[in-house]
Amino acid sequence: MMEKKWWHNKVMYQIYPKSFFDSNGDGIGDLQGIIQKLDYLKELGVDILWLSPVYESPMIDQGYDISDYYNINPDFGSMADMELLIAEAKKRGFYLLMDLVINHCSSEHEWFKRAMENPEGKYGEYFYIREGKEGNPPCNWRSYFGGSAWERIEGTDRYYLHMFAKEQPDLNWENEEVRRELYKMINWWLEKGIDGFRIDAIINIKKPKEFVSYEADGEDGLCSVHKVLEDAQGIGEFLTELKRETFEKHDAFTIAEVFDDKEGELPLFIGENGYFSTMFDFTIEKARSGKAWYEDKKLYPEDIKRLIFQGQKESEAVGFRANIIENHDEPRGASSMFVKDPKCDASVKMLGTISVLLRGVPVIYQGQEIGMKNMVFTDISEVDDISSKAQYALALENGLTKEEALAVVGERTRDNARTPFQWSDEREAGFTDGAPWLKVNPNYTEINVRKQEADADSVLSYYRKLIALRKNPAYQDIFVYGTFEKAYEEAENVLAYYRKGDTGTVLVVTNYQKEPRKLRLKDTVGKVLLTNQRDVKIEDGDMYLDSFGAVVCTVEER
Ligand code: GLC
Ligand code: CA
Repeated sequence: MMEKKWWHNKVMYQIYPKSFFDSNGDGIGDLQGIIQKLDYLKELGVDILWLSPVYESPMIDQGYDISDYYNINPDFGSMADMELLIAEAKKRGFYLLMDLVINHCSSEHEWFKRAMENPEGKYGEYFYIREGKEGNPPCNWRSYFGGSAWERIEGTDRYYLHMFAKEQPDLNWENEEVRRELYKMINWWLEKGIDGFRIDAIINIKKPKEFVSYEADGEDGLCSVHKVLEDAQGIGEFLTELKRETFEKHDAFTIAEVFDDKEGELPLFIGENGYFSTMFDFTIEKARSGKAWYEDKKLYPEDIKRLIFQGQKESEAVGFRANIIENHDEPRGASSMFVKDPKCDASVKMLGTISVLLRGVPVIYQGQEIGMKNMVFTDISEVDDISSKAQYALALENGLTKEEALAVVGERTRDNARTPFQWSDEREAGFTDGAPWLKVNPNYTEINVRKQEADADSVLSYYRKLIALRKNPAYQDIFVYGTFEKAYEEAENVLAYYRKGDTGTVLVVTNYQKEPRKLRLKDTVGKVLLTNQRDVKIEDGDMYLDSFGAVVCTVEER
């Protein structure tokens, strides 16, 4: 029997501070803004709040480039604001997580500046600095954001490694002093009273032993970081030490972002005594990603079903992974999880139902609970995200027209999830009194919190019920600790599963298509716990499912 942990029955919520709520009219969301909205989050019913980075940063990658781990970006507020947020969150029973970005820092970080002043000095050892090869970088790795992962240090033939943007130099984890500095910082934050971290790009901290070229996989002669990571062995030593020196001492909750774990590694990451409490299940995100965005695949309901079943199966005997339908790096689920955006509330409620009731930790990204959708971009100049610019260039380079490249970026850009939160139908969606840093989605007049709070049938009202159901102690044994089993797998475009606990079985059944349908039941339905339908008709052994219908009901043990 698995040891029970305080976070098993919790629901997590991701805040993207820059776009959440602006308290002072400068167009940028901030910590005071989050404090003002804590009661909204309380009413939603979520427990664990994860803040995307708020540390001091030049914001080249929106805060994932940290120039001072011990300070708050003045755009977001002050350390006093942060301390107030910790206190106010605690007062309301929330658990607060910061984002931990320790694979790299910013090129504006003191360490890096000193390393550039004297690459041969002590701080040179904080990064990966290598000689070039005949005027070229040391090897042919491609950074995630496009171009070589090596940047030449001016006036020398040396290069430093950056797996992300050139303004995000990778920290040298092989250097014990670097590790000590990072652990000190982590403990400092935990002592301040935060409850844990979402851990960024952690798989990247281990590099292959040798920095050698691999077979090129594109016109540019470079090879992807994914290929590089396959060759990186021995991350476990770092992660064991990281946990021992920091998280473990504080009983901190940790949720890792891991895209490239190796076969069989899952138990080490999230099993009993794993390096982390949990990690995201990115089965869907991985399956739809091509080498570049222009190669991304469309997923159909049957694909999504297969992938969800696969992800659940992998975690089953190991531990809990965290389930998402979107985040700050992914397009809005309300758009991306449908081949043709059906633009209806039912489909959004259906998706929420599928995701929140899975086995694992549900994570809701800000705006998901009101069904925020992708932005429509009419020109590439409207896009801010650094990776989108690189992907746009890459698409053009590979023969797409400007229109096609814009369409690709429009679907995939991380800005889809980063447009300001839609609080009301007032100017700028009630997000700011000033000019927002990124354009508000024009659909805010239709999709906003104020409107949905007044409507018992809204997406927001549904999410509140959904979260309450998930957390209802009467069903904890089923939704938290129960098993996951596929159901009605052969019925096309029906995505259904059982959650089975000692106290009973719940069936979650959804009609992942526009056309209403009948489903021949193999179960005896007991009580309907939640539905996005007006009613649930069962007649002659058939359940009637609406367009994008979702039904959660108890069933008799079979
Ligand atoms: C993670 C973050 C992403 C960031 C990258 C580099 O993937 O989620 O937003 O750009 O790491 O830190
Ligand atoms: Ca502000």
